[in-house]
This record gives sequence, structure tokens and C-alpha cells, in this order.
Amino acid sequence: MRAGRAAALVALLAAGALLAPALGVEPPALLRELSRRLRDVRRLAAGAGAGRRGARGAAGALGCGDLRRAAAGPELGAGLTKAVRRAELPGGRALALKAVHGAAGGDVSRCVRRHRAPAACRRLAAYKLLKELVLLRRLRHPGVVQLYGQCYDNSAHPDIRVTAMLELGSPLEMIQLLQTTWEERFKVCLSLVKLLFYLAHSPLGSIVLLDFQPRQFVMVDGNLKVTDLDDASTEELSCKDDNDCMLDFPTKSFILKCSAAGKCEGINEKKNLFNAYRYFFTYLLPYTAPPGLQPFLSDILNATGDLRYGINETLRAFEKVLHLYKTGIYLQKRPPLLQEYISLQGFRTRETQDYKCWPSYSHLGCLLSVHNAEEAAGICNSQPQCQSFIVTQQRTWTGRPLAAFRSHLPDLIPDANAAIYIKRSASSREKL
Ligand SMILES: Nc1ncnc2c1ncn2[C@@H]1O[C@H](COP(=O)(O)OP(=O)(O)OP(=O)(O)O)[C@@H](O)[C@H]1O
Ligand SMILES: *[C@@H]1O[C@H](CO)[C@@H](O)[C@H](O)[C@H]1NC(C)=O
Ligand SMILES: *[C@@H]1O[C@H](CO)[C@@H](O)[C@H](O)[C@H]1NC(C)=O
Repeated sequence: MRAGRAAALVALLAAGALLAPALGVEPPALLRELSRRLRDVRRLAAGAGAGRRGARGAAGALGCGDLRRAAAGPELGAGLTKAVRRAELPGGRALALKAVHGAAGGDVSRCVRRHRAPAACRRLAAYKLLKELVLLRRLRHPGVVQLYGQCYDNSAHPDIRVTAMLELGSPLEMIQLLQTTWEERFKVCLSLVKLLFYLAHSPLGSIVLLDFQPRQFVMVDGNLKVTDLDDASTEELSCKDDNDCMLDFPTKSFILKCSAAGKCEGINEKKNLFNAYRYFFTYLLPYTAPPGLQPFLSDILNATGDLRYGINETLRAFEKVLHLYKTGIYLQKRPPLLQEYISLQGFRTRETQDYKCWPSYSHLGCLLSVHNAEEAAGICNSQPQCQSFIVTQQRTWTGRPLAAFRSHLPDLIPDANAAIYIKRSASSREKL
């Protein structure tokens, strides 16, 4: 059935009716734009690998029937061209539906005001979504929102209604992200770097996200995923000499090399990388990072901010930081502190409300990720309220345990796998 699905799109694109005939007399500029977009979609849809890539997604893919049976939920977000709603399939599976939206102020209404050609303007917007669908189908990666299926409906000729059925995410809230732990923010940056690595070496060539903004991404399980691909491009700038290879940002410009083949070398990759630096790394990477990792993070910021690193080196640098963090190597050269604590093996405490710390993994009290009890002892020492802590069985995405810090000694519960650490000074005060 996979061939059928791919064929359906190609047939839809090939339907001569897609262009002028059905639309009557249109402004030439709009027609040119329409055919340019159509060519773009066809080019991306065609070519080796298109069917093969689609195959995996097509197994059990959703279609128009599922769309009709889905219960629509609230709107999740909207941009200039598209609106996204939550929906639920009869079985309870939740997903996101993306379609062109006609609301005032959007792309379509601006086009209509300008060209007075509503059908053609709606079609232009539909082509944007079609392009996105083609790209989502061919670019399968954990950093690309997953396409569950699609529905093309051209029964309302000359309109084609296109709906994408997508993995459900939540809009990226930068302010919220800034309030999470460094470990979570690092995860977001790492998932972005892995995505950019994939885009730089994608089956379609090196892909640039022309409109690179936090609102083009959503979060799924703490991972960043790109959802807006209608402004992605595979074309690399042509050049005669290096001066043609200018990469311009509001705060900075770079001149890249013009290759012997007459292409600006790595311009797509570098444009993505600098955008990642200015929109994500500068905000998310440095704050409250473990001191032992600061030099490595400063190096990443400096190297991406000056485009000294390409995406390969950037990914390597991120993986090195992850390694240092996971292995606890960054903690070396610290005086032992755990000896200031009495350990009670075989006990844990009830989870009760206690003092807060920032940024805690729990709103009930101070719950932080640690490498081991030794690091937890250092944290407890640095917090005046802290009298005891336990290292829990809960793990973060890097595999580190969470430690709960306490201002008093709550009831002890026997638990063979747990241990409580109590400050010696505290235990003598409480006459334990
Ligand atoms: N899979 C998803 N799950 C949840 N929300 C989503 C999903 N996809 C998109 N959104 C939300 O919908 C908004 C609009 O989607 P999208 O960016 O594709 O539309 P657009 O019209 O191209 O936007 P823009 O004008 O910013 O380019 C996004 O900013 C995002 O917040
Ligand atoms: C990188 O470091 C150099 C040398 O310290 C400095 O001149 C430059 O401004 C830094 N660049 C960025 C983007 O931080
Ligand atoms: C980057 O890594 C990719 C994939 O491993 C490889 O094909 C490419 O040659 C590397 N590029 C550079 C500049 O090292």
C-alpha cells in the first residue's frame, strides 16, 4: 500500500488541474510563485529513496478515514500559514493535526488582499504544507516530529485540503525551559545538535532551516523536535568567489569559502549552527552548569559563536560533555565530605513537604540529580537548611540518581535498597 500512498501524492501533484486552468485569470506573479512551489514539492517528492523512506512511515499510516473519526480538541498553536489542533483517535491515541488556516492576519488573507485571488492564495498555502509533508516523510529522525499520516482532499475543487497527522508535542516555551535544571536544558541543546548533524548529512543533502526560531520546534519528552519544515531548503548558495559567500546575521557576519565547484562550502550547516548558538546555546547552556563543565561549555559557545566548529565537531564536543557528566569525571579533585555524614543503610524516608531549592525536580522539596552520595554531601553542605539526604532509585535521562535533601529527619521506613545520610552535627543535636 506504500506505493499507493506515494503514488497518490504524485498523482495529485501531476493533476494538471493543480495549476492555472481551474483558477481562471490570476496575477502572473502569483502564478510564477505557484509553479515555483509546485516544482519544489515535485523535486523533493521525486528521486531515489522517496518510496523507500516513505515505506516505514506508511506501514499502518493514518489516512482520511482516521481523520474523519478523530475527535478534534483545542488549538495548540498557529503560525502565519498553519494552525495545529490536538485530536484523539477512537482508541484514545492523541495526535496533532496541522492544516492551513484561513484566519485573518495570516498568510492567506495577506495574499488575498494583495492579489484578489482567494483560490490561488489558498493553493499557495496548501503547497507549503505539501512540501512540509514530503520533507517529514523523507526525513525520519528523533529530532523531526513524526508523521503518522496525512489526508488530501480535493473534492472541494479547486481547493485541495491537506491535513498532516503528527506526533503530539507541546509548544516550546523558552521561559519555562530557563527554569528547568541544567541537565534538562543540556538535553534540549544536545537533541538540537543531533538534529542539525542529521540535517547536514541528510538523504536530501545539507538542509538549512531558513526560518530558524524557537517556535518552529516542539517538545516531546524533554526532547526538541522540529515541526515547521516549509521553510527548509536543500539548495546551497552558488558563488564565483568567497565574497559571494556572505553569511549575515543581525549581530555578526561571516565570509565562507567558495569551493572549486562554485558552491559556498557548508553554508547551510553553518547557518543552522549559528542560529542554534544565538537562539538556544547562549540561553540554555551556561547557567547553573556544574563548575567542572564550565570550561567545556564556554569552549562550545565560543566555537559555535565564531563558527570555528562545524556540526561534526560541535556534536563531538557535546558528546564529550555528556561523557564527563555521566562518568562524574568532572567532580575530581574535591575534598571528601561524606565522612561528615552518618549513613543508615536499609532505610528511606517518607516523601514529605520540605524546604525548596532551585531548580528542583519536585515541587514538594529539594530533589536534585547527583553523581553519587559524595556529590550529594557537597550539595547538602552548601545548603544551610540541609540536615540529611537520601539517594533515591529515580534516575534522570543521563542515568544519574536523584537525591532528596531534608531539613529534618523524617520517619524512617525500612528499605533494603536505600540509605539515608545524616549530618553528624545534626545527629548529635537531635541526640540520635
Ligand atoms: N506536533 C505538534 N504538536 C504540538 N504543537 C505543534 C505541533 N506542530 C506545531 N505545533 C504548534 O503550532 C504552531 C504552528 O505550526 P507551524 O510552525 O508549522 O506553522 P507556521 O504557520 O509555519 O508557523 P510560522 O508562521 O511560525 O512559520 C507551532 O509554533 C507550534 O507551537
Ligand atoms: C571567543 O574567544 C575569543 C578569544 O578570547 C574572543 O575574542 C571572541 O570574542 C570569543 N567569541 C565568542 C563568540 O564568544
Ligand atoms: C562529518 O561527519 C559525516 C558523517 O559521519 C561525514 O560524512 C563527513 O565527512 C564529516 N565531515 C567533516 C567535515 O568532517
